[in-house]
Amino acid sequence: MSAQGTLQEKSEGPLIAVEDLHTYYGKSHILHGVSLTVGRGEVVGLLGRNGVGKSTTLKTIMGLIYPKQGRIMLEGKAVTSTPAHKLAKLGIAYVPEDRRIFRLLTVMENLRTGLDRPGVTDERKKELLDKVFSYFPVLGERRDQAGGTLSGGEQQMLAIARAMMLEPKIILLDEPTEGLMPRMVSQIRQIIDVLHSEGVAILLVEQNVPLTLEASQRVYIMEKGAIRHHAVSSELKIDDPVIKQYLGV
Ligand SMILES: Nc1ncnc2c1ncn2[C@@H]1O[C@H](COP(=O)(O)OP(=O)(O)OP(=O)(O)O)[C@@H](O)[C@H]1O
Ligand SMILES: [Mg+2]
Repeated sequence: MSAQGTLQEKSEGPLIAVEDLHTYYGKSHILHGVSLTVGRGEVVGLLGRNGVGKSTTLKTIMGLIYPKQGRIMLEGKAVTSTPAHKLAKLGIAYVPEDRRIFRLLTVMENLRTGLDRPGVTDERKKELLDKVFSYFPVLGERRDQAGGTLSGGEQQMLAIARAMMLEPKIILLDEPTEGLMPRMVSQIRQIIDVLHSEGVAILLVEQNVPLTLEASQRVYIMEKGAIRHHAVSSELKIDDPVIKQYLGV
């Protein structure tokens, strides 16, 4: 990011600030006061064992579940309980755990679903597609193939590429490397770096602790529906006792 961008980030406060979220599924109280921030262009990791509420945190931020208590601020304005499609227009993109690409649509058609929105000129559409095909050459090669015929890693790329078509301020990424082969994991890692270099913020939910510490600037660790630890990623070593306490097996 430019020096100017960094200065703006400081004067304007966080891009997203989540304050004291309490989320329920029916009567089950899942999030117990989750608070976190993501700065403009910042990559923030959200770690925690299975079932601690990481995906629920992302779904609550995305307006797919409304919290019973707490606030979600986007660029200083409350957006709590705003429906997902409106948040998407405000610049929040979401790539869920199950990737949810359109299996029967081609790669190109999948990407176009993110481009067909008001105010995007044909020239801009072409620029965005060219950019994605330069980052993900395999998607260019397979542009006419149905999404469902791609490998798991390619589908993950397509899901992220489709989110990029929306030109979001932030992408909420839920376990993008889950179940992928090591070569694909390192490609996803590179994509995170590319997005970061373009100034897109990311809230990255992961089980891969080393990757998250490398790719992010800060990390939060969750347990039982609450944030238990918050650190600067470069200062948290993989053998730190908190890693063992909250993430070890
Ligand atoms: N739709 C739902 N209805 C009821 N309970 C749910 C629902 N979705 C998740 N839960 C429960 O909420 C808790 C938190 O789930 P969540 O998916 O947020 O965890 P997670 O940290 O993302 O876990 P994982 O690492 O397995 O993806 C779990 O106990 C889960 O069983
Ligand atoms: Mg999850």
